[in-house]
Amino acid sequence: VLARQGVRDLAGRHVVVSAGGTREAIDPVRFIGNRSSGMQGYALARTAVARGARVTLVSANVALPDPAGAQVVPVGSAEEMRKAVLEAVQDADAVVMAAAVADFRPAGYQGSKIKKTPGAEPEPIALAKNPDILAELAADRPPGQVVVGFAAETDDVLANGREKLARKGCDLLVVNQVGEDLTFGRPDNAAVVLGADGTSTEVPRGAKEALAEVVWDLIAARLPD
Ligand code: CTP
Ligand code: CA
Repeated sequence: VLARQGVRDLAGRHVVVSAGGTREAIDPVRFIGNRSSGMQGYALARTAVARGARVTLVSANVALPDPAGAQVVPVGSAEEMRKAVLEAVQDADAVVMAAAVADFRPAGYQGSKIKKTPGAEPEPIALAKNPDILAELAADRPPGQVVVGFAAETDDVLANGREKLARKGCDLLVVNQVGEDLTFGRPDNAAVVLGADGTSTEVPRGAKEALAEVVWDLIAARLPD
């Protein structure tokens, strides 16, 4: 990070970062959520501001201070995130989907609070698929826009990552190894960044800021002049 101090290689660029985890409403008081803290996305936003970019941060359910100099767009659900991201990327040079987007949402929203019925078993909650924002971004992007995804994988992390990178059609996929308390809510992260061009960049365990700097390095190298 120190070596990059004062490097404004993203000056004149607009970058969009999504962060946090979406919440999918079950009824007025309940939701399906996930453990994403938003720390990696916020680190990406802060480092991009420091490197001179105009930053739009689409933030889902994050309890962190707004990064100075970034435009924060708060959202709740995956559908809201999709709308906000699609709008923000219109004129963007790069987009990084660091958010944990819920794959499924309750198929029907219950307008009234679900109550217990004495003696009766609870009703199951039917699920519907959410849109894949990253795949949509990669498919519909303007020429030259760099599209980056994140993936948390277990088991064969690299093979799963390669398959996901191809399936999503993005330029870079940042693959984290997850386990009990390996990533979520921790200030540090270890990852490998896979490129659609076949490259792979290992990032040793360190601050999420350090991983963010590597991601911007790889993006900057792919931006057209
Ligand atoms: N993502 C997205 N929209 C979704 C789901 C995921 O944009 N509905 C993005 C995430 O922000 C992330 C990337 O896709 O950048 C990978 O997310 P991940 O959950 O690992 O991928 P999935 O395709 O949902 O695969 P899996 O079945 O492993 O969850
Ligand atoms: Ca998923």
